[in-house]
Amino acid sequence: MNERVVIKSEDIVGVIQRTLNEVDTRLVEHGIRVALLVSGMLKVDGGFTEKERQDICILSVLHDIGAYKTEEIDRLVQFETHDVWEHSIYGYLFLRYLSPLDEWAEGVLYHHVPYEKIPNTREEIKKTAQMINLADRLEIFSRSARSEMSSKQMWEAAEEYLRKRPKGQFSEEILQCFFDAQKQYAVFDRLKEENIDFHEVFPTVRLTKEERVKYLKMMTYAIDFRSQHTVTHTITTTNISEYCARYMGVPEDRIEYIRYGAMLHDLGKIGIPVEILEYPGKLSAQAMNIMRTHVDITEKILNGAAAEDVTRIALRHHEKIDGSGYPKGLTGKDMTLDEEIVAVSDIVSALIGTRSYKSAFSKERTVKIIEKMAEEGKLNPQIVSVMKEHFDEIIDKVADSCAPILQNYYGIQSEYRRLLVKFL
Ligand SMILES: [Fe+2]
Ligand SMILES: [Fe+2]
Ligand SMILES: [Fe+2]
Repeated sequence: MNERVVIKSEDIVGVIQRTLNEVDTRLVEHGIRVALLVSGMLKVDGGFTEKERQDICILSVLHDIGAYKTEEIDRLVQFETHDVWEHSIYGYLFLRYLSPLDEWAEGVLYHHVPYEKIPNTREEIKKTAQMINLADRLEIFSRSARSEMSSKQMWEAAEEYLRKRPKGQFSEEILQCFFDAQKQYAVFDRLKEENIDFHEVFPTVRLTKEERVKYLKMMTYAIDFRSQHTVTHTITTTNISEYCARYMGVPEDRIEYIRYGAMLHDLGKIGIPVEILEYPGKLSAQAMNIMRTHVDITEKILNGAAAEDVTRIALRHHEKIDGSGYPKGLTGKDMTLDEEIVAVSDIVSALIGTRSYKSAFSKERTVKIIEKMAEEGKLNPQIVSVMKEHFDEIIDKVADSCAPILQNYYGIQSEYRRLLVKFL
């Protein structure tokens, strides 16, 4: 039973949490507490399968994910909020197109819409949106009260708060569902606890391999909250690595690991300040030092969750075979061919792409640079010569493979503007 597992189901939520915590710790914490209330309601409702409950709970953790992009975080953690459409729309599109939760994403779109105003859609979506809406309001409400009140006082205050909601905000059914969840599981009382872990909310997370991969990919798209260049770079590097590895004759099972390692290689950039990520010029030595910490951040985010080979590929993409790279200054004898392939592919992807500080380099210029690095003993000359020999084919294939993904990704930006006009 030696299945090569890239990442286990139970490690996925941790990776998501640690990735988003690099941007702001408040939203995931809020999300998990909302998921706690929602999980109680889902159990009481009885109309959802275990798999559906799991998906809706993960959706609840991520319900405000759009706020990372729209910079609404500060406003969202306040009690009453207006202008809630930006993060609802962006979150919906992000989850619909870039996550395995596409089926439920509409629940996020309407998570601030009063029951009576939710457009005609599936009953389960309305219910999901209402559950998140109610849980979200109560979680924010509980913050002001949780330190000085007893559980009983807090519950009385919450009941009163719910009674005073404008008519039509929550359906009678959802209010009843929540009261039942409190009666049976005392979910609201649990909001007094600090640092609730998702696995206390949903103990057994079961995901298919496809879902696990999609979640990992979703996290590499999350860097878009900081830098669009990084998303395109990640997609390009993954594809260059794959095709280069094929031309090098690397066996298929290892190519799979190379793909994941390349996919995750710059994940840690989510923790680098935007001013440095998108700086339109040469970075100062000090800024460069900060930039280099993205490898350590990736290590911290993965925290042993992914397979060791995959993690190593991701963490070694800035090492050079002469020991002049970072973070460890490893040399060629410490590194595997797979790791070196991604290191070379990363450089090629950076050279042929546009950046805030440079335009795209031509084939000639790119090949010249990597050949020089090989001559200086920094890059594996075998990989560089394969890259040179098959440069056009690799770039063509990469362009073909990247096109649909990038189209989808850019489609989100235009859809975002369209929906803003529709709902605002
Ligand atoms: Fe929200
Ligand atoms: Fe929220
Ligand atoms: Fe990097």
